Amino acid sequence: MNQSKPCVLVTGGMGYIGSHTVVALFRQGYDVVIADNLCNSDVLILDRIEQISAQRPRFHQLDLCDKTSVRELFKLEPTIQAVIHFAALKAVGDSVKKPLMYYQNNLGSLLNLLETMQESGVNNIVFSSSCTVYGEPDSLPVTETTPVKPATSPYGNTKQIGEEILADLSKVSDVHSIALRYFNPVGAHESALIGEFPKGTPNNLVPFITQSAIGKLGPLQVYGNDYNTPDGTCIRDYIHVEDVAEAHVAAMHRLLSNQQQDTFEVFNIGTGQGNTVLEAIHAFEQSSGQKLQYIITSRREGDIEKVYADTSKSNQILGWKAEKSLFEMMQSAWAWELQLSKNSQNE
Ligand code: NAD
Ligand code: WQD
Repeated sequence: MNQSKPCVLVTGGMGYIGSHTVVALFRQGYDVVIADNLCNSDVLILDRIEQISAQRPRFHQLDLCDKTSVRELFKLEPTIQAVIHFAALKAVGDSVKKPLMYYQNNLGSLLNLLETMQESGVNNIVFSSSCTVYGEPDSLPVTETTPVKPATSPYGNTKQIGEEILADLSKVSDVHSIALRYFNPVGAHESALIGEFPKGTPNNLVPFITQSAIGKLGPLQVYGNDYNTPDGTCIRDYIHVEDVAEAHVAAMHRLLSNQQQDTFEVFNIGTGQGNTVLEAIHAFEQSSGQKLQYIITSRREGDIEKVYADTSKSNQILGWKAEKSLFEMMQSAWAWELQLSKNSQNE
C-alpha cells in the first residue's frame, strides 16, 4: 500500500471511464470522492469498486448542474485538492436531437464546478475531452496541434467549448487544467467487475460486437467497406479503458507536483495505432473464440474515415504510454459481457 496521497473528486466516477479511474487512483494511494447523479450508471458500481480496491469511495449522489449541491459537496468534503471531471452526457446522435440538454448538462456542470472550485481554493482539474475535436483530420496521425475542426454535433461542441473555458480561465486565475483527448476507449477491468453499461442498443462498435456475439442482438452491421483504407472499413485508435484510467493518474500527478509547462495543457490519449473495423472483429474472434456474424451495410452518416493519435507528447511529457493490445481489449470486453449475462440469468 502506498502512502496516502491527496483527495481527488471524481465527477461521473460511477460511469465507464470514471469507475476504472477510481480504481487506478486508489491503487496509487489517493483518497477518492465520487459525485454522480447516476443518470447513466448504477449504484452497484460502488460495491464493485470496493471488491476490486478493498476501499470504498465516499459517494455523493448529486446533479452537478445544481450549484447549491455542488457548493454543499465542497463544504462536506473540505480535503478535496483536485478534480477529475468525467460527468457528461456522451451520445452523439442524441445530442443532435436534444442540443439544449447537452449544452445545459455538459457546460452547466463544468461552469458550476469551476466556480465552486474557485470559491473553495481548489485549483487543479483534469477534463475529459475527445478525439472528436479533430473531426476528419487533414493529416495523420493527429498531434495536439492538429487544427480543431468545427464540431459536427452539439456533444462534440461541448468538448471544444469545455476546453476553451478551461484555457480562458487558466489565463486569469490560479486554476490549472489538463484536457485529455481520448480516442476510442474500449474493454473492461481485468476482474470483469466493472465495464461499460450501454443503455438500450449500443451505438459504439465494441459493445455491439459483444452483445451480438452473446445473442442479445442480431448480426453486427459494418458501416461501409468502400473507404480509402486497406480493407475499406473505417480506422480508429482503440485504447483499453485501463490505459485511459492510468493517463488520469499521470495527469493528476503532473498537476499536483506543479510540473506543468502551461497552466492549460492538452494530451492525446490513444495507442498511436489505427485499426479497421474488420481488424477489430478479427481480434474479437481470436480472443473470444466466438465467430461473429456481421453484414456490410452502407456508411453511417457523419462517420470519420480514419483517425488515430500521435502519442509522443503524452508519452514524453505526461510520462504515460498505453500498454494493452487490441487482443486484450477484446478479451476483457468479452469477459465483461459474459459476466453481465451470468448476472442477469441469476436475477
Ligand atoms: P458514462 O456515461 O459511463 O459516465 C459519465 C457519468 O457521468 C455517468 O455515471 C453519469 O451518471 C454521470 N453524469 C452525467 N451528467 C451528470 C451530472 N449533470 N451530474 C452528475 N453526474 C452526471 O461515460 P464515459 O464513457 O465514462 O465518459 C466519461 C467522459 O469521457 C465523458 O465526459 C465523455 O464525454 C468522455 N469521453 C468518452 C468517450 C467514450 O468513448 N466513452 C470518448 C471520449 C470522451
Ligand atoms: C467505431 C467504428 C463505425 C458500430 C464515437 C463518438 C466520438 C468519441 C468516440 C466520445 C466506426 C464502426 C460502429 C456498428 C460499425 N466519443 N461501427 N458498426 O464513431 O469512432 O466515435 O466514440 O467523445 O465522439 O462519436 O466510435 O464505436 O461508434 O465506431 O461498423 O454497429 O465502428 O462506423 O468506424 P466513433 P464507434
